[in-house]
Amino acid sequence: QPIHLSDYRPPAYLVSRTELTFDLAPGTTRVKARLHLERHPEREAGAPLWLDGEQLSLKAIAIDGQPLEEGEYELTRKGLSITGAPEAFVLDTEVEISPEDNTALSGLYRSGGMFCTQCEAEGFRRITFYPDRPDVMATFSTTVIGDLTREPVLLSNGNPVERGELPDGRHFVTWDDPHPKPAYLFALVAGDLKKVEDRFTTMSGRDVTLQIWVEEENLDKTDHAMGSLKRAMRWDEEAYGREYDLDLFMIVAVNDFNMGAMENKGLNIFNSAAVLTHPNTATDAAFQRVEGIVAHEYFHNWSGNRVTCRDWFQLSLKEGFTVFRDQSFSAEVNSAPVKRIEEVSFFRTAQFAEDAGPTAHPIRPDSYIEIGNFYTLTIYEKGAEVVRMLSNLVGPETFRKGSDLYFSRFDGQAVTIEDFVDCMAEVSGQDLEQFMRWYSQAGTPEIDAFGEYDYANSRYRLILRQRTPATPGQPEKQALHIPIRLGLVGTKSGRDLSMTLDGESLGRDAVIHLREDEQEFIFTDIEEAPVPSLLRGFSAPVKLSFPYSREDLAFLMAHDSDGFNRWDAGQRLTLLALDDLIAAHRNGVEKVMDTRLVEAFRALIEEGNDDKAVLAEMLQLPSEAYIAEQQPLVDVDAIHAARTFIQQSLAQELRDELLALYRDNQSDAAYAPTPEQIGQRALKNVALSYLMSIEDEVAIELAQAQFEADHNMTDVRQALTLLVHSSRSDIADPALKAFGRKWSHDPLVMDQWFSLQVTRPQADALDRARYLMEHPAFSLKNPNKVRALIGAFAGQNRVNFHRLDGEGYRLLADVVIELNRLNPEIAARIITPLTRWQRFDEARQALMRAELERIRGEELSPNVYEIVEKALA
Ligand code: ARG
Ligand code: ZN
Repeated sequence: QPIHLSDYRPPAYLVSRTELTFDLAPGTTRVKARLHLERHPEREAGAPLWLDGEQLSLKAIAIDGQPLEEGEYELTRKGLSITGAPEAFVLDTEVEISPEDNTALSGLYRSGGMFCTQCEAEGFRRITFYPDRPDVMATFSTTVIGDLTREPVLLSNGNPVERGELPDGRHFVTWDDPHPKPAYLFALVAGDLKKVEDRFTTMSGRDVTLQIWVEEENLDKTDHAMGSLKRAMRWDEEAYGREYDLDLFMIVAVNDFNMGAMENKGLNIFNSAAVLTHPNTATDAAFQRVEGIVAHEYFHNWSGNRVTCRDWFQLSLKEGFTVFRDQSFSAEVNSAPVKRIEEVSFFRTAQFAEDAGPTAHPIRPDSYIEIGNFYTLTIYEKGAEVVRMLSNLVGPETFRKGSDLYFSRFDGQAVTIEDFVDCMAEVSGQDLEQFMRWYSQAGTPEIDAFGEYDYANSRYRLILRQRTPATPGQPEKQALHIPIRLGLVGTKSGRDLSMTLDGESLGRDAVIHLREDEQEFIFTDIEEAPVPSLLRGFSAPVKLSFPYSREDLAFLMAHDSDGFNRWDAGQRLTLLALDDLIAAHRNGVEKVMDTRLVEAFRALIEEGNDDKAVLAEMLQLPSEAYIAEQQPLVDVDAIHAARTFIQQSLAQELRDELLALYRDNQSDAAYAPTPEQIGQRALKNVALSYLMSIEDEVAIELAQAQFEADHNMTDVRQALTLLVHSSRSDIADPALKAFGRKWSHDPLVMDQWFSLQVTRPQADALDRARYLMEHPAFSLKNPNKVRALIGAFAGQNRVNFHRLDGEGYRLLADVVIELNRLNPEIAARIITPLTRWQRFDEARQALMRAELERIRGEELSPNVYEIVEKALA
């Protein structure tokens, strides 16, 4: 059943033009398609035409106007084939579909009162019979017919070219998209929507109309997305020389959406959570996420749409590159060091776990059963890290030359990852052959580093060894080309020393290249004993260990010139302290706080930082999930106890400092999502969370006051979370009720209300989760609700999800079984925590596997089947 990359063949027929007519009705929508087909020049005469089609009811089919008889085509549950068709012809089909019954949210479906589409990767085949593969690119003309009152707005890709009224209160709009595109970029939206409009003039002087379409009550939540869009458009011109290519660019917000957003040509469709913001309803993190996603989808117009993927194995060609582009954009318009810290801490927690689990796959997989399962952290985030390495390897200017070459050479084509990397090799003259292994080899490389200072000869010897652990289907691994940015920080001077390697001067901050299993680097003329600062800026997506002492780490925390590694040294120091505490908890020994950690944190606060967001990150303890990643066997309770102990000890020891930090960063200034304000709020709120961990009266008063001040959602949500996560129901319950009552009309705020309750560490979290699933604002049919409640419980509430009675696992499996029928893509995603059973003790392993077996006993969608089979293999 799996599809293999090595089996790729071009399609028998290409489509040059596609003309569609939709007659919309919730129960039964009629879709007429006229396809202008011709044989692929590389395919043999006689090769049959294959059209994908699922859950379509075929009403009519004709070739060049001649209706086909039943024996002239073959129809299966997967599609339709025609043998003996002419070399070039026009195919007309008419089908019926039922958008209202489409709970998978793939193809044409209903969200609230509106119609909308999601076609990537393989949703178009649920709309009409079509060669639904990205290497078939056609121009589209789309006529949408709807009800004047129910669907006053009718949108599709490109430009509106005709509109008019029809009998019976119906009307139509015809859209024309002149840019050839694969079917996955098709979009249609129809409903009672309102718009906010703006303009943008491109660098060559094209005047573009920008529209954001929302439900009327959300008209006041579009400013930030619009501003982000304009910033992204300008940035892509400046950083990549890429200009927008239509007169109209539209964004639509829909409430029911499987992912964040979709880059359909000229008509981006967004999960409302990824576009709507207002200071009263969205947190700083949401503002930043919206900015990043708006940019991401916009950037796809070139990296994805103008140049697209030959087949879905190349998904990271567009996603990895576009994530790298949106990360670079966000770093430039926000605080760059904090952006990198956030990216890496997320990456090392979630992508490393994926790479170490049963669903590990290369950035370019060799095979898949369901492509919907491959919109993963590996394809997206690891793909972006690999593009970042390329950019660092060839240098930013050459990288820009390479991307210019890529866009001009392949404009209008569907291409492969090699095509992209070859452009980089061509412009740089570098040999990137070994580097290509990053795309085919799964798993996280582990580097063991050792260093030694030779006082007599003033040399520093660094030994690096790499190995990549086996992953499913890949027992043997080859050495990768790993760029390691480093500095040697002098222990006397506290400064980066200048480095000479093999007689060549490298400067004080340089990149060395690890290509072999083991390599030795001897730096000469090193005048004082250094502490090495390795993998600066996370220069490669690897795990690097070095036998640092706690003194070394405290030293780097204070002196490393690389902000990212200063933060990382703090994380490493905290992890060492956590290791001791986890062991103490296991052995039933009294826990003792490491005073070096207290002093290091005290120094951090005393010294301050110009970038408050960075300081907030440095004061943040590693998450339980990240701590778990570092343990050979995850002991959920010991991790929770150890982390809580550190948090409380720091709060006790540094209470005055934290209080001062809180008060100094209080502000009544009008809310703005600026890096300065965001940093200030982050710092204040991190101080508050330490103080609340000991639940003293002053902290409780501060949290309550912050909640009641109701200044902005960032502060309100943080205060409410701390109150609700406390052990005191007398302070938690009234705030929770007040908030729930106030925001019952706003689905995105209610999502937050669900999440913060089911993530509380108290033992009633699971009962609450079950109870809240019955809440009128909850629905299993809405992916945001599923993520906010079930996803948050299973993914973030580790102590309760991993309860020893197995009730947490049972809850998740119950939901997966129901979602398997309603929305397979979401079912296959939400199941992830259960697939990580190998990491836990035997009792939990058995419970988790039992739930996976129970799921396997169901009649499964390909999505869930693929994941469960891998998890149990
Ligand atoms: N291309 C979209 C994005 O990254 C995501 C589409 C995901 N679709 C899916 N069926 N999983 O911007
Ligand atoms: Zn994308």
